[in-house]
Amino acid sequence: MGTSKANGRKIAYVGMSADLVHPGHLNVIRRAAELGRVVIGLLTDEAIASYKRMPFMTFDQRRMVIENIKGVDSVIPQATLDYVPNLEVLRPDYVVHGDDWREGIQAKTRERVIRTLEQWGGQLVEVPYTKGISSTGLQSAMKEVGTTPDIRLKSLRRLIQVKPIIRLLDVHSGLTGLIIENLFIETGEGRREFDGMWASSLTDSTAKGKPDTEAVDITSRMVTLNNILEVTTKPIVFDGDTGGRTEHFVFTVRTLERLGISAVIIEDKEGLKRNSLFGTEVEQTQASIKDFCEKIQEGKRAQATKDFMIIARIESLILDKGIGDAVVRAKAYLEAGADGIMIHSRAKTPDEVFAFCREYDCLDNPKPLVIVPTSYSQVTEDLLVKHGVKIVIYANHLMRSAYPAMVQTARSILQHQRAAEADGQLMPVREIIELIPGGNGNGKARRVL
Ligand code: SPV
Ligand code: MG
Repeated sequence: MGTSKANGRKIAYVGMSADLVHPGHLNVIRRAAELGRVVIGLLTDEAIASYKRMPFMTFDQRRMVIENIKGVDSVIPQATLDYVPNLEVLRPDYVVHGDDWREGIQAKTRERVIRTLEQWGGQLVEVPYTKGISSTGLQSAMKEVGTTPDIRLKSLRRLIQVKPIIRLLDVHSGLTGLIIENLFIETGEGRREFDGMWASSLTDSTAKGKPDTEAVDITSRMVTLNNILEVTTKPIVFDGDTGGRTEHFVFTVRTLERLGISAVIIEDKEGLKRNSLFGTEVEQTQASIKDFCEKIQEGKRAQATKDFMIIARIESLILDKGIGDAVVRAKAYLEAGADGIMIHSRAKTPDEVFAFCREYDCLDNPKPLVIVPTSYSQVTEDLLVKHGVKIVIYANHLMRSAYPAMVQTARSILQHQRAAEADGQLMPVREIIELIPGGNGNGKARRVL
């Protein structure tokens, strides 16, 4: 039993995230204070990110708020969604929680709490759900308000700290941004969604009907970015192609930073850039280690914040130069100041990427590793985590799914000289006009996603 027991006061344990504190939390704390000494088990950022969105405030900020709330006696970290590890140490007389966890992802957690408390005669006390306010509702309201460039920029580094793997999907318009921003599924382990966006050069160029050869200039890429930034809050990683001339790259870095982009990935190629997935079918020249290191160094020097990331993309496997060359380059680029490494491959299996991962892991100070499993799409995220991959980019999948659907519809209209035959594959008109809130003038349209 805790020392407080020796003092004669019972312990009431309250697990919470306390990210957006509202009257519902205060009701729970008030009830706990009636029962005994209130110990808050404050969920760590990792614990929260394991089943829902990363908290707005960091653990330390949340602790500072909750420590100062009337009725709270002490705050300890709760490192998992599961209460049991903390309960076994503390052996509280009561666990106090809102009664809204009887269903959904937390139902299992609740069962385990009850069974654990039984071991020493503890009791679960449930406080009726406070109507009219919830963290989920507040979170949606926050999303409507949007974000600031500073918060968005920093959010990628926070995600890297708290999530086993970060999942990005290609974005090339406001609409694709909205899909990534809003789509989620419920799973046995909680809510699953995309963590952020990959501003792909391939899909942005394709959407503009241009080849992926840096023909779409940076100004034009920024126009796309702006459309996405206006309607989303999640972090964005920008595909910087080769970064262009070093003298120009420093301006790109500052522009991206100012917009709140979290990272740029530049590839170690020079001359006319071609898409990597062409491999050696077309002429592509890899930059010298020295030149590319210089570009990284200049880019890092140009940054105004410490949070922006420059990630170096290695094309050795794409150009059949072998794993040895890739590892030498990884080491040099990290020493030049790169904040991460992307290893690209066009192989049909992940074997060469995994061989690289094993060697990369042995480097002195490996930074986050990024991969793009387009050609080896069978690889699972679980397996990537086991190989130390930190960011997985699904680089072109929205574009590749949209284009065939559009062509099919266009073909059907040509064939039948009317649209009726295509209707079955289309979203209803009602849904498209209501898809974007505000279309009906009152801002209340339902979001289909
Ligand atoms: C992109 O999405 O533009 C990329 C990844 O750079 S790849 O197309 O595989 O080169
Ligand atoms: Mg690209």
